[in-house]
Amino acid sequence: MPGTLLRGRILTFHSEPQGPDDTACYSYIEDGAILMHDGRITASGSFDDVARNARWSEVVDHRPHLLMAGFIDTHVHFPQVQIVASWGAQLLDWLNDYTFPAESDYADAQHARAMAGKFCSLLTDHGTTTAVAFCSVHAGSAEALFAECAHRNMRVVAGKTMMDRNAPMGVLDTAQSGYDDSNALIEAWHGKGRASYAITPRFAITSSPEQLAMSGALAKEHPDCFVQTHLSENHDEIAYTAELYPQARDYLDIYQGYGLLGHRTLLGHAIHLKDRELGALAETGSHPVFCPTSNLFLGSGLFDDAGLRARGIRNGIATDIGAGTSYSMLQTLNEAYKILQLQDQKLHTLRAFHWITRGNAEVLGMADKIGTLDAGTEADVVVVSSTATPAMALRMARAETLFEELFAIQMMGDDRSIVQTYVAGKPQKDQAE
Ligand code: GUN
Ligand code: ZN
Repeated sequence: MPGTLLRGRILTFHSEPQGPDDTACYSYIEDGAILMHDGRITASGSFDDVARNARWSEVVDHRPHLLMAGFIDTHVHFPQVQIVASWGAQLLDWLNDYTFPAESDYADAQHARAMAGKFCSLLTDHGTTTAVAFCSVHAGSAEALFAECAHRNMRVVAGKTMMDRNAPMGVLDTAQSGYDDSNALIEAWHGKGRASYAITPRFAITSSPEQLAMSGALAKEHPDCFVQTHLSENHDEIAYTAELYPQARDYLDIYQGYGLLGHRTLLGHAIHLKDRELGALAETGSHPVFCPTSNLFLGSGLFDDAGLRARGIRNGIATDIGAGTSYSMLQTLNEAYKILQLQDQKLHTLRAFHWITRGNAEVLGMADKIGTLDAGTEADVVVVSSTATPAMALRMARAETLFEELFAIQMMGDDRSIVQTYVAGKPQKDQAE
């Protein structure tokens, strides 16, 4: 059967923008089209060219909106959907007071399944088509999320969290059960359809040396799986971690010692780093993940994007729901811009939109599959309005360039700007335009 043509203003990136004048890094087509067939983009370009040269059965006219690659969230906690906006605490108290109790509910597989559906809908409502997710400690929570994503044909990277100490019984595994459950989940889900597995020791505080050793063994046995954890988010966390691992040179050295670093490793936060840690991140190709709304909400600190980049380190960017306060990658960029302003670092809007699409895809080593509108990639597409609210419409009335428009979307946009989200070619939002 011939495919569906989406018509609109196309914006897609070929490489990371080196500055506002870098026009080679992206394509912008005022009257563009994307042809989607069988879950893939089979052609993209000017509407006239694509419509003339391809076979298609319907046109969905999204003009005057922008068509971009679906957004990618590289660090988010699926079992924290019910604790977003929990008051007053910094990291360790927030985990003990709100997070662990909420995650203990995911021992109930039915609850996990119900929340997985809501979580995926929230992602796509906000324009996110791929998430890298922490599940709870319970294998059933990962089962629920993988099953929900498979049902939607949605790309996902996820893992059962491993944690065997310093938390309530209801959210603990053991080094052996964490290893066994992870192995079984890898066998069941990794590489199946659009799913990838992330080996997920929560962080050094909640994993014993034995558990981190077994996490390292899993990473060695499954080199094409991802590894995700947390690093140097908060000063009290760092001090407690140093007490628990007194032999380590620094926080990163703990993960390094257990063989957990590499280009498929994602390290949430990575705010307060020592020079040796920067060198080790660069050497191993590991990826810090910037979580702006979370870092502000928990008062964790200011992510030094330019400092890391200057060392050749490639950073992801993410919501970190539920310490993050918005599912929107646009709102994430808004807060990222402000955090970088406070450090006299400028986040240009071209780089911002590259970051949440192709940039995060490159961090995952998946730019051949997601993050662009290139022919041959998976048909994850987001339709974005720059006039979604009265305030945005007012701002847009004075915007003269594409950059002004993009920056307004970056700073003022949220789920109201997401007109439609296509996952593997299928529309996910039922609202009328
Ligand atoms: N460090 C360990 N676990 C967590 C978590 O769930 N959220 C955040 N923000 N940091 C963590
Ligand atoms: Zn996190």
